[in-house]
Amino acid sequence: MYRTKNCGELRIQHSGENVTLAGWVQKTRKMGGMTFIDIRDRYGITQLVFNHEINDDLCEKANRLGREYVIQVTGVVSERSSKNAHIETGDIEILVDNLIVLNEAITPPFTIEDNTDGGEDIRMKYRYLDLRRNNVRQNLILRHKMAFETRKYLDQQNFLEVETPILIGSTPEGARDFVVPSRMNTGQFYALPQSPQLFKQLLMVSGFDRYFQIAKCFRDEDLRADRQPEFTQIDCEMSFVEQEDVLNIFEGLTKHLFKKIKNIDIQGDFPRMTYADALQYYGSDKPDIRFEMKFVELKEAVSGKNFIVFDSAEYVGGICAKGCASYTRKQIDELIDFVKRPQIGAKGLVYIRYDADGSFKSSIDKFYTQNDLRSIASMFNAEPGDLILILAGEKSKTQKALSELRLEMGSRLGLRDKNIYKPLWVIDFPLFEWDEETKRYYAMHHPFTSPKPEDIALLDADPGKVRANAYDMVVNGVELGGGSIRIHDSKLQNKMFELLGFTPEKAETQFGFLMNAFKYGAPPHGGLAFGLDRFVSLFAGLDSIRDCIAFPKNNSGRDVMIDAPSQIDQSQLDELNLAITLK
Ligand code: AMO
Repeated sequence: MYRTKNCGELRIQHSGENVTLAGWVQKTRKMGGMTFIDIRDRYGITQLVFNHEINDDLCEKANRLGREYVIQVTGVVSERSSKNAHIETGDIEILVDNLIVLNEAITPPFTIEDNTDGGEDIRMKYRYLDLRRNNVRQNLILRHKMAFETRKYLDQQNFLEVETPILIGSTPEGARDFVVPSRMNTGQFYALPQSPQLFKQLLMVSGFDRYFQIAKCFRDEDLRADRQPEFTQIDCEMSFVEQEDVLNIFEGLTKHLFKKIKNIDIQGDFPRMTYADALQYYGSDKPDIRFEMKFVELKEAVSGKNFIVFDSAEYVGGICAKGCASYTRKQIDELIDFVKRPQIGAKGLVYIRYDADGSFKSSIDKFYTQNDLRSIASMFNAEPGDLILILAGEKSKTQKALSELRLEMGSRLGLRDKNIYKPLWVIDFPLFEWDEETKRYYAMHHPFTSPKPEDIALLDADPGKVRANAYDMVVNGVELGGGSIRIHDSKLQNKMFELLGFTPEKAETQFGFLMNAFKYGAPPHGGLAFGLDRFVSLFAGLDSIRDCIAFPKNNSGRDVMIDAPSQIDQSQLDELNLAITLK
């Protein structure tokens, strides 16, 4: 037996027991005639003691151990004279009488500590060492627990976990596909699933009624802190349901996870906000409602005073930052620089300071009287001491920029506490999104999303106005999941394809199998998918989903540890009958 106990389980009540432990050398300290070694495994750290006076040879052997050596020790559990309250085994130590080196280790390229000296790149290259660090491992333990509790909840609700294939054809989730060449079908390619969307709908046609899968999805899109090229969904689909049924089940799952994992009771129903309101008041379809600071539209109120920036703008809107009137010129300049960053894209920022003495000071004093400024301030319910920040320009761009400014002010004011969770449903998404560049409509969610029955009449007349039975779950400004009620009527589905610019032939080639399946009796159905990586990151308070993925990709989509993607051998290309010509 390599060990009788692990490195995290010994307590004062084990004193006097003879135990064998195995693990890695975390740290060695020499003090007088004693050597202390911290031995580490997945479960914790235990202090080992070697006494020079009792066994000189053994102590010398211990002194020769390097960091990360794999060792096995036997000894007696003993109460410590100076206890360490920071670790769970801190009341005891092992008086070692036997030491075996199971494996030596070369010096690791960074320290295996919570506060390591290793930068991101080096840690990713040696990810297997990074994963030895307690805080990284904790994220993966959390991930395991969340997946496990998800399975328990969905099993109780009669969902069946069904695996769907990875080598498939294109799925319409709006990103680029990763493709895999087929050896047996020369010149042809599989696509990796962007999600199991089509298969889960087919499972409904097959009568499975309630499906789920913790599924790998692949999307070739630009990467961000909350996006990886391969990620994991908690993917679900249900038959004979309306939007309300789906929302209830997954609000239930979310509450279950909050309770079981974070011991947080979320009382009452999650608030619901229409997409239109989310944009109007927060400039975003994933509003962070931990704090108010809602947008106020000012276009009408501020026009006609010869201030050309406002007069010529399609949209003028602002936010009120409570208690920020004391902002210095330097702080205001920082905000101006912030909104002018290329990724935010505003041209400038107008401010109105509501000073404690009731007067106003603004960057537009030339155009607006004190009374004008007072009436603008009243639209925000502003009070003396507040600072109003205003952006103007093209509507959707300006709303986006104002949304970023709102989040920035929320952070500066400490209103985005990671330990406070504010979930909501965003509902009534538009069915279509207009793309100026290609001058055509795209499905905002995907082409199988059902329009709201009351809006079907608008499909021909004004497609941009049609709302969908589609919903997202948002927590603290993160889109955790999204889904929709699907179209189960082939005629309506064909109409959708037509509006999305598919010729009947193209629709047939890409989705013929689904349309065919629908001819054999498709139940009304709908579903949703959560991003598991995002869910775990939210619970762990992480800034990037990378930190809860065992072996993630970097921002260029590379796995720097195994050095992928990489070129393949000529023989592999020959087998595939492919030649590479780079453009
Ligand atoms: P959607 O495309 O909204 O819907 O994806 C569902 C959820 O998956 C997560 N997600 C991602 N997480 C990490 N990296 C990515 N690149 C990434 N892309 C998406 C998000 C998102 O909310 N088939 C539909 C679901 C349905 O209609 O049932 C779908 O995939 O958390």
